[in-house]
Amino acid sequence: MNDRLFIFDTTLRDGEQVPGCQLNTVEKIQVAKALEALGVDVIEAGFPVSSPGDFNSVIEISKAVTWPVICALTRAVEKDIDVAAQALQYAKHKRIHTGIGTSDAHICYKFNSTREEILQRAVACVKYARRYVEEVEFYAEDAGRTDNEYLARVVEAVIKAGATVVNIPDTTGYCLPDEYGRKISYLMEHVDGIDKAILSTHCHNDLGMATANTMAGILNGARQVEVTINGIGERAGNTALEEVAMIIKCHNDIRIETNINTQKIYPTSRLVSSLMNMPVQANKAVVGRNAFAHSSGIHQDGVLKNVQTYEIMNPRDVGIDDNSIVLTARSGRAALKNRLELLGVKIENGSLDALYEAFLALADKKKDVNDDDILVLAGVDRSKNHRIKLEYLQVTSGVGVRSVASLGLNIAGEKFEAAAGGNGPVDAAIKALKKIIDRQMQLKEFTIQAISKGSDDMGKVHMQVEYDKHVYYGFGANTDIIAASVEAYIDCINKFKG
Ligand code: KIV
Ligand code: ZN
Repeated sequence: MNDRLFIFDTTLRDGEQVPGCQLNTVEKIQVAKALEALGVDVIEAGFPVSSPGDFNSVIEISKAVTWPVICALTRAVEKDIDVAAQALQYAKHKRIHTGIGTSDAHICYKFNSTREEILQRAVACVKYARRYVEEVEFYAEDAGRTDNEYLARVVEAVIKAGATVVNIPDTTGYCLPDEYGRKISYLMEHVDGIDKAILSTHCHNDLGMATANTMAGILNGARQVEVTINGIGERAGNTALEEVAMIIKCHNDIRIETNINTQKIYPTSRLVSSLMNMPVQANKAVVGRNAFAHSSGIHQDGVLKNVQTYEIMNPRDVGIDDNSIVLTARSGRAALKNRLELLGVKIENGSLDALYEAFLALADKKKDVNDDDILVLAGVDRSKNHRIKLEYLQVTSGVGVRSVASLGLNIAGEKFEAAAGGNGPVDAAIKALKKIIDRQMQLKEFTIQAISKGSDDMGKVHMQVEYDKHVYYGFGANTDIIAASVEAYIDCINKFKG
């Protein structure tokens, strides 16, 4: 049987320390529930003594979540531990995460102390936390730069004092993978009683090695990993949950199992990104926009023949459901034909060449060509089978006047009209639309894509609308950007289930 690897998610504690990314309690609960659905084992919900907001979030997350262990961070200070225990009172499964810096830099400059004194404080805080909870995790801050012999003494002492998990953070992201792996292996070999606790990795990404270090830790005996969604966190961030989960899924030779439902990875990544207003870089491993997008002709041809040529994981395994091959000026006829077929467009004999010429002319002007462009090229009216259609839209807006919009919709053959004022033309148009379609829906994301060439080019709008706990993606393309926005909103509504 494979060993079990525990996933400790710290998106809501270490991840949330990113400047400008703070979440309110309601948003934290949303993330915590998504993490529970994703299958994480432990949710680090906050640092309760740091602020009343953090204290309250740990309480509310504890109430909202059932299966994962809820963890609260403290320093090696009794008051911190008292407050953490209080914040965890409603958690069904609870853990206190306490600790202290163990590197010489921390001992000398931060604590003005000695190795012996720090060792005693480490033992004392673990014993104190054990008075409140069964599960106590100890962190040896800056373990990455801590002398291994001294670190082993600290780890042995805290396990004896009752620590059930010992966290070995590479706080500054300094270690090389081999060095970090050897550190874990040293502790596995030299700590008496190591079998009574689990060693945990906690790697920062300052030198881009967080995931590599975490994997080195796992390969050398660590059985818990501390990670965040999208790798967010202070400075260059923490190890990304999605990277570790997919490495383990792709490499059958690593005989380890997690409880992660990988198909929830992409939606969780999008949720965290949108709530924190922190975009995911396009080339981010596993969840970036381009992670599965093969744009060169050679790659596209290979993928179409057999995905194994260039794809080591299936986008569906991480919850990406669409066909994300980006068509560019370098794409071949085979890629275009395949996309048309996927879009349900039948190509008459001999018409592919002409279509391909038109596609190349468009691709020369634009960075990438999407499904709507292709449908336009193929002369297909995307909206012709939609239940709700925009019949007309008239907007008055400008500087010093209130925007007003009136629009007409055709809903399954019946015509409706409405008008509304708003804070700008898009707001006015959407308010008018909502007068006709009165549902509890909320606009979550609204992106207007740059017009590529000329003021008469198509403006493109991507939207996400939440309705009945589901998020629907919509798209609109029109030379009038306000009309494109309304079309994108209607596109979302047309996809509503129920
Ligand atoms: O990076 C770190 O050392 C930490 C500890 C507080 C666990 O986040
Ligand atoms: Zn950290």
